[in-house]
Amino acid sequence: MSIKLENVSKIYKMGEVETHAVKNASLEILKGEFVVLLGPSGSGKSTMLNICSGLDNPTSGIINIDGEIISDMNSKELTKFRRDNLGFIFQQYNLLQTLSVKENVEVGREVSLLPFTVEEVLEEVGLTPQTDKYPFQLSGGEQQRVSIARAVVKNPKIMFCDEPTGALDEDTAKEVLGVLQKLNKIYNTTVILITHNPSIGAMADRIIKLNSGEVVEDIKNKDKLDASEISWG
Ligand SMILES: Nc1ncnc2c1ncn2[C@@H]1O[C@H](COP(=O)(O)OP(=O)(O)O)[C@@H](O)[C@H]1O
Ligand SMILES: [Mg+2]
Repeated sequence: MSIKLENVSKIYKMGEVETHAVKNASLEILKGEFVVLLGPSGSGKSTMLNICSGLDNPTSGIINIDGEIISDMNSKELTKFRRDNLGFIFQQYNLLQTLSVKENVEVGREVSLLPFTVEEVLEEVGLTPQTDKYPFQLSGGEQQRVSIARAVVKNPKIMFCDEPTGALDEDTAKEVLGVLQKLNKIYNTTVILITHNPSIGAMADRIIKLNSGEVVEDIKNKDKLDASEISWG
């Protein structure tokens, strides 16, 4: 699935104050691309992601996902579109504490059209031995891998990841990034990953840099690294 943005802007109005969180962005992300959206805090990364994924509306502009103009959809249509096509991962794992690993992943599977099996996905994220554990029995990295499994089990066309390693130490972060890289490769799932850590750009096919709501750079990375080879610096 490709995503095309044409002249997309987002302005938040709070009383007298206007914040131009995204300024006139135009770009296209291709199916299967691993894109890192990079920028300092406040540069508009989350706003951009939320708009691309239909979690928020743009103030102006067109967002086209594989021929569907999501910027024209009403909230009911958007909810269905997101459920059928998109996966989400955030810094917080948002797992259900009373459900086991397997049951948490089942939750993602139930809402989908062409899902993978829970067993297959737990194997891919390296959690088969943890299948029957509960979130409180897992490390942060393991919990994040459960949330990745929950997002990917529904076979999403696009995975949106907002600072997925923001709460993890370096080694654990690389493990989690490695899982995302592997899923991108084996399922050809488009991945859009937000980070403020420039080192992570090295594992992407493409790096889009934001500053003060503007796309200031959009570069192809011909020599991408394995997540395990990234050096945090
Ligand atoms: N819901 C909101 N209401 C008002 N301002 C917002 C809202 N969300 C984000 N902003 C503002 O938009 C700008 C970009 O924020 P954000 O997209 O969260 O940046 P980043 O994810 O890069 O840290 C910031 O100035 C932020 O304060
Ligand atoms: Mg953010």
